[in-house]
Amino acid sequence: MFAFAKEWGEPRVVASGAPAVRAPAARTGASIALEDVSLTVGVRGGVVEILQHVSLRVAAGEFVCLLGPSGSGKSTILNLVAGLARPTSGRVRHDDVDVAGPGPDRAVVFQDAALFPWLTLKNNVEFPLKLQGMGVPERSARSEELLRLVHLWRFRDRHPHELSGGMRQRGAIARALASDPAVLLMDEPFAALDAQTREILQGEVERIWSATKKTIIFVTHNVREAVRLADRVVLMGTRPGRVLHEDLVELPRPRALNDVRVAELANGIGRLIASEVEKVAREEADDAWQAPGERGRDPRRQLGRGI
Ligand SMILES: Nc1ncnc2c1ncn2[C@@H]1O[C@H](COP(=O)(O)OP(=O)(O)OP(=O)(O)O)[C@@H](O)[C@H]1O
Ligand SMILES: [Mg+2]
Repeated sequence: MFAFAKEWGEPRVVASGAPAVRAPAARTGASIALEDVSLTVGVRGGVVEILQHVSLRVAAGEFVCLLGPSGSGKSTILNLVAGLARPTSGRVRHDDVDVAGPGPDRAVVFQDAALFPWLTLKNNVEFPLKLQGMGVPERSARSEELLRLVHLWRFRDRHPHELSGGMRQRGAIARALASDPAVLLMDEPFAALDAQTREILQGEVERIWSATKKTIIFVTHNVREAVRLADRVVLMGTRPGRVLHEDLVELPRPRALNDVRVAELANGIGRLIASEVEKVAREEADDAWQAPGERGRDPRRQLGRGI
């Protein structure tokens, strides 16, 4: 298998069928700031407030995980940072410049790898470079170096359907890194993977992050995953989406999912999420809904008792 020197500037293939390469010098991550961002959209004659007064700063090179119930606006935040959506009020800044639209400096990795099925893995990774007008030899060298970084060099000529889900996600990460973005936006990238593959890829992302010093905003529903990976965990609340709570994670790296300190912190955050999810369920449900501890007290559930 492969092993790399810790710094992106000096990856070394220690043992594999691939020749050793030098990666280009890294561009460090960039800072991101959401300043009092609100977003409302019109739906069926009404208006829905998706985000309300969200302020969030992510330092250059920081790894931030966003957690929160479904509908709390996590993906919307990534879309705003990616430049795919605009706030109704407030500002989204990238290294102190307003985000005006999408750009190669901010790459997104989605839950489903979204690799082009008709292209080989190598051509998928080269695709953004081709769009940028990079010449064939240069982009070929760059894609091979990235495929080594994600340990997929041997599979470079395969098409996505010939790869496992975990390999496809690693391919998507390589493609996202192709244009050397300063910011990597990851929207539940491992949600569709089995637990073991997920754990391996968490380690991969942490390794790539340490090697490249990118700024990462990583959305997940998995609290332990967030605590394992993040410098800071940001918990979103819903209706409307807003920042509820933040936790600095100061545990030494690399962290193990089953580390008791990871578990303790995750349990605390998990309790906050559970109460937020319960709030949503109450609002969405009819008056027959009850919290788990209250079950059995609904008179309609007791019909027929004692008959
Ligand atoms: N363009 C849009 N028009 C109307 N509503 C939208 C639009 N985009 C997002 N929403 C709504 O905004 C809310 C936040 O959506 P978002 O996808 O950001 O949530 P999320 O936290 O990523 O949820 P999940 O965990 O399910 O992925 C949801 O209620 C969604 O239905
Ligand atoms: Mg989402």
